[in-house]
Amino acid sequence: MNLSRFLREVLLKSGTKVVCEEGDCGSCTVLVGEPDKNANTLNYKMINSCIAPVYSLDGMHIITIEGLSDAKELTEVQEKIACHGGSQCGYCTPGIVMALTALNENKVHYKNEAIKSYLTGNLCRCTGYLPIIESGLAVDAAKMKPINEIYANPQLILDLKETQAEPILLEHNPITYFAPTSLTQALKYKAAHNDVSVVSGFTDIGVEQNKKDILRTKLLSLHRIKGLKKHKQVGDFYSAGPKTTISDIETEYRKIFPDFCRYLNIFASPQIKNRATLIGNIANGSPISDTLPFLYILDAELEITSLKGKRSAKVKDVFKGYRQLDLENDEAITAVKFPKKFEHKKFFLYKISKRRDLDIATVTAAFFLSLNKNSNIILDLRVAFGGIGPMIMRFEDLEHEAKGCEFNNEFIEGIINKVLTRITPISDVRGSREFRERLVINLLKKFFIEASPI
Ligand SMILES: Cc1cc2nc3c(=O)[nH]c(=O)nc-3n(C[C@H](O)[C@H](O)[C@H](O)COP(=O)(O)OP(=O)(O)OC[C@H]3O[C@@H](n4cnc5c(N)ncnc54)[C@H](O)[C@@H]3O)c2cc1C
Ligand code: FES
Ligand code: FES
Repeated sequence: MNLSRFLREVLLKSGTKVVCEEGDCGSCTVLVGEPDKNANTLNYKMINSCIAPVYSLDGMHIITIEGLSDAKELTEVQEKIACHGGSQCGYCTPGIVMALTALNENKVHYKNEAIKSYLTGNLCRCTGYLPIIESGLAVDAAKMKPINEIYANPQLILDLKETQAEPILLEHNPITYFAPTSLTQALKYKAAHNDVSVVSGFTDIGVEQNKKDILRTKLLSLHRIKGLKKHKQVGDFYSAGPKTTISDIETEYRKIFPDFCRYLNIFASPQIKNRATLIGNIANGSPISDTLPFLYILDAELEITSLKGKRSAKVKDVFKGYRQLDLENDEAITAVKFPKKFEHKKFFLYKISKRRDLDIATVTAAFFLSLNKNSNIILDLRVAFGGIGPMIMRFEDLEHEAKGCEFNNEFIEGIINKVLTRITPISDVRGSREFRERLVINLLKKFFIEASPI
């Protein structure tokens, strides 16, 4: 059962609302707290409770709208929403209050851009966003009581830490959910059963379950395995583990790959990014995944582990068809490895979607260019597109031919023509074949303009 249903139908806490049940509207937003590794506090992040199975939240502290105050008086955020006309029918309001409260929990100032960013995943059909944003701008953070001050006593933190250190085996017909604390146990389980899905943040799987009626019955989580770190350096690589969320990437890699992190600003919403993992985004295998084109041109690698040992494969080589990964039944992805040689380098990353925020891409593109210092001669050019075929397409032979050429208008026209002869985009609700072809042309031209030395 997803948390939103559990709250509303089992605990009868109906303050948390449900509209879309697919992570798109934010009305089900709750805060989830986990013990801080270095301090005796809990770190709270907002998530969508409608696509989060209760069992995936074991050992976490859930704060719903009912838990923000003692119900005798409004919180600072609630009061400002009331005073600034930030609510009409009120159905979206609990989710919006949770999102605006999350700003304070994450120590973010109540400034215009930050408020808009935190509200990316919250839809309101009747009030209009201006009064909601004005409510946020009027919040006096000094009057907010941090959730830690209300709930986080040492005993609770200890209980959560102890719970998180234990393995979970949940068998409830027809579902088995296994979250062991050792990698060997996980791999043995994977090897012993044919139909095991490794699961991470459930943002894809939760939607699959709610909207497509697909119920995966044998689920294996790697999130309790201590050795699989979120972020580490191994030789020539930075390595992100199975628990590394898109939000973690935005924080940890901000200085290392600034263009990628800026680009992730338009990945889903904060609620989704706090749960969605990088590995889940890769393993989902969508040709319109936001992260794949960058990982393709970066020559990022996957660490793939089974009982036989570890192997590495370039992300670009691991796909063999539409959403098909070259993984054996007994294998799991245990890390994504970013080559250090590209740190601080400039990347050109583009996503075209019908709506700027919280939308699936129509076409994505990633480019990298290195020119000779004293001329426009190409030393290294990398080109990848998503949304124009069943898999991400990288044009390595064209990249090879480009070495030694001058990066000028004629060159880019040549590349455009060559790329167009190789692609057969589909027409669907997000755009016709012709539109996608036009996007390929325009994105290459945009890249040329932005990358050309002035
Ligand atoms: C509202 C909404 C908005 C979204 N917006 C975007 C967006 O803007 N851009 C975008 O690219 N995506 C978007 N997504 C898709 C989704 O959030 C991402 O694909 C996400 O990164 C998946 O990660 P997860 O941890 O939730 O994966 P899960 O849902 O847990 O799993 C996804 C897939 O990966 C497999 N898997 C997970 N972990 C492993 C592992 N360790 N080894 C092998 N296989 C594994 C699972 O079996 C499953 O097939 C959106 C989803 C929603 C619901
Ligand atoms: S109900 Fe819409 S995001 Fe959960
Ligand atoms: S107040 Fe009605 S949906 Fe937002």
